[in-house]
Amino acid sequence: MTPNKPETNVDDPARVAAFEARIAAGETIEPKDWMPERYRRQLVRMMSQHAHSEVVGMLPEGNWITRAPTLRRKMSLLAKVQDEAGHGLYIYCGTETLGVDRHELIQQLLNGTAKYSSIFNYPTLSWADIGAIGWLVDGAAIVNQTMLAKASYGPYARAMVRICKEENFHKRQGFEIMATLSAGTPAQKRMAQDALDRWWWPSLMMFGPHDTDSPNSDELLRWGVKRKSNDELRQRFINLTVAQAKAIDLTIPDPQLRFDEASQNWLIGPIDWDEFWRVVRGNGPCNQERLAARRQAHDDGEWVRIAAAAYAAKQARAESTSEAA
Ligand code: ACO
Repeated sequence: MTPNKPETNVDDPARVAAFEARIAAGETIEPKDWMPERYRRQLVRMMSQHAHSEVVGMLPEGNWITRAPTLRRKMSLLAKVQDEAGHGLYIYCGTETLGVDRHELIQQLLNGTAKYSSIFNYPTLSWADIGAIGWLVDGAAIVNQTMLAKASYGPYARAMVRICKEENFHKRQGFEIMATLSAGTPAQKRMAQDALDRWWWPSLMMFGPHDTDSPNSDELLRWGVKRKSNDELRQRFINLTVAQAKAIDLTIPDPQLRFDEASQNWLIGPIDWDEFWRVVRGNGPCNQERLAARRQAHDDGEWVRIAAAAYAAKQARAESTSEAA
């Protein structure tokens, strides 16, 4: 397949109009189709940030695999963390259909120039945090990615279909951990509430800044990459999660939370956007630790890359010898 590479830096307005007509008609854009350079760049930006998030997202939970309280919990967590690696791989492969090299993107993550989701820069302090991540973080990811499964770019949308199926399992295992702790001893219940207290607001920040402060949204919505805005998805997540917290007798840590009859929405107090931008700009509680862990993993994997390259070269030599014979 020929990866989609820009032919020129300037997009022909007639081609852009035809492209936008295809999007408006609900058609899916595939790798070999013509696309505006700006559309391609927006997809690479968003998909690479997403792939990095999946990979960095393995770290806070991986931290608890050896400390899971039972064999069943350990197996579920291990499977979940492996799934996240797979999600990263699908999405990196998706970016390659847009003419970028995955190694280049990984280099950007390792040298600190790429973004990944703010949520993974918070620490996992207790076992209940594993429950909170599954329930809230994967729950938020499902709300966001169910919409992305309808995105206009085919490879990304198709990756989301499979990813959402797996995320549903992740969410259920997290919710089950929280429900079990909440129905346990007073100390266990306190642990669950403490985890909800710490993960609630960062989970809401996952959806990105308010629509009025989101520079990319207009373009992404116009081109059908995003189907709903940051605030619409955040609201959907809040409405779903408030009911779930009630069901397991936990309290959402927001004294201003109230149900608005007119809109049928749960309305929240203000989000601390200073905290959000601090974390996005690299100054969250665990940013440095996360990048150091990724760099270490990359260095430790050097021998695998050398071995794979040597094997590929050996195979190529064997093939050319057999063709010559
Ligand atoms: N963490 C870090 N950076 C963020 C976050 C966040 N939670 N939300 C927004 N940003 C960044 C954007 O990347 C953008 O920066 P850039 O222009 O330098 O790339 C800037 O803040 C402004 O935000 P928006 O204009 O609103 O950005 P966008 O329209 O791309 O919306 C969103 C952000 C909602 C995260 C979107 O990119 C998206 O849906 N991405 C795919 C899903 C995803 O990446 N999920 C990751 C977590 S899920 C998981 O891994 C389990």
